[in-house]
Amino acid sequence: MKIAVLPGDGIGTEIVAEAVKVLNVLGLKFEMESALVGGVAYDAFGHPLPEATLKLAMASDAVLFGAVGDWKYDKLDRPLRPEQAILGLRKNMGLFANFRPAICYEELVGASSLKPELIAGLDILIIRELTGDIYFGQPRGRRIATDGHFPGAEEAFDTMRYSRPEIERIAHVAFQAARKRHKRVTSVDKANVLETFQFWKDVVTDVHAQYPDVALDHMYVDNAAMQLVKEPKRFDVVVTGNMFGDILSDEASMLTGSIGMLPSASLNTKNQGLYEPSHGSAPDIAGKGIANPLATILSAAMMLRFSLNQEEAAVRIETAVKKVLAQGLRTADIYSPGTNKVSTAQMGDAVVNALR
Ligand code: IPM
Ligand code: MG
Repeated sequence: MKIAVLPGDGIGTEIVAEAVKVLNVLGLKFEMESALVGGVAYDAFGHPLPEATLKLAMASDAVLFGAVGDWKYDKLDRPLRPEQAILGLRKNMGLFANFRPAICYEELVGASSLKPELIAGLDILIIRELTGDIYFGQPRGRRIATDGHFPGAEEAFDTMRYSRPEIERIAHVAFQAARKRHKRVTSVDKANVLETFQFWKDVVTDVHAQYPDVALDHMYVDNAAMQLVKEPKRFDVVVTGNMFGDILSDEASMLTGSIGMLPSASLNTKNQGLYEPSHGSAPDIAGKGIANPLATILSAAMMLRFSLNQEEAAVRIETAVKKVLAQGLRTADIYSPGTNKVSTAQMGDAVVNALR
């Protein structure tokens, strides 16, 4: 089992170190190799996704990823910005299926900005298509407008597009995931306005014919954004395109009170995957030892489950995380009076102890 370890920028190095600690006490044999990615890779090699890093990732069964990005790179040309590293990995590895669970842990119900009764027991799985849509559609760029409201003016444009096979494969992923859960899929679109998403809706409906045991409903993205805060527990599996999924998954993650708790998985057709916390690099708190490593530790659990075929070890990690929460240990982001505030490393150590 070969794991590429790509900590990246900001808090990435601190949180990935804790996940590696946890992996090392499972009694399993891994080959782990680290490489630079993001801003730190740009500083060292002049590119956020150096050839060697990409090669390592492609040759591994799984990538354990921290986070990339820092404001100090915002002025670079787009192809050199840290975010291009994650987009490049998604594209080159074909990681089209992104799983973003939003689970509310019993002990953290009070950390949400929503009323406890709305989110207690919340367990949503957002499945975001990750290699298509307006993120990757060509053409894109800047030009002088020849039509529109201001002919002759400078303009910018992107292309939203999806092919039938791209929609079909993510729909299959969603229906199959729903079968292991509560058998309900909500497909989120903007079919009332966009051609791309009328097509999305039609194709998802076609694929649904193969899953009569799963209930499917369709929802416009604006309504979905509203329903997520109004009645989040109505959702089971949500499947949507790349851009809507980017936005809705941030919204869903915050329902649970802390984005510091949520893992994610991005898979290709060979079950090769990239595993990363749902949160970003948080340069403002980097190096202070206060970041929450649990999202990364839980991402390592997803990695064991999806790419390394080690379900039992995955469950062990998840159980250990619940145990440290029950013990009252909290990093700053999930701290509340009456609990025990710990550092990044102390939290990692606590999970390690819970595993022993
Ligand atoms: C995410 C992030 C990325 C995205 C950025 C960093 C390119 O927001 O993984 O959700 O937009 O997909
Ligand atoms: Mg995002």
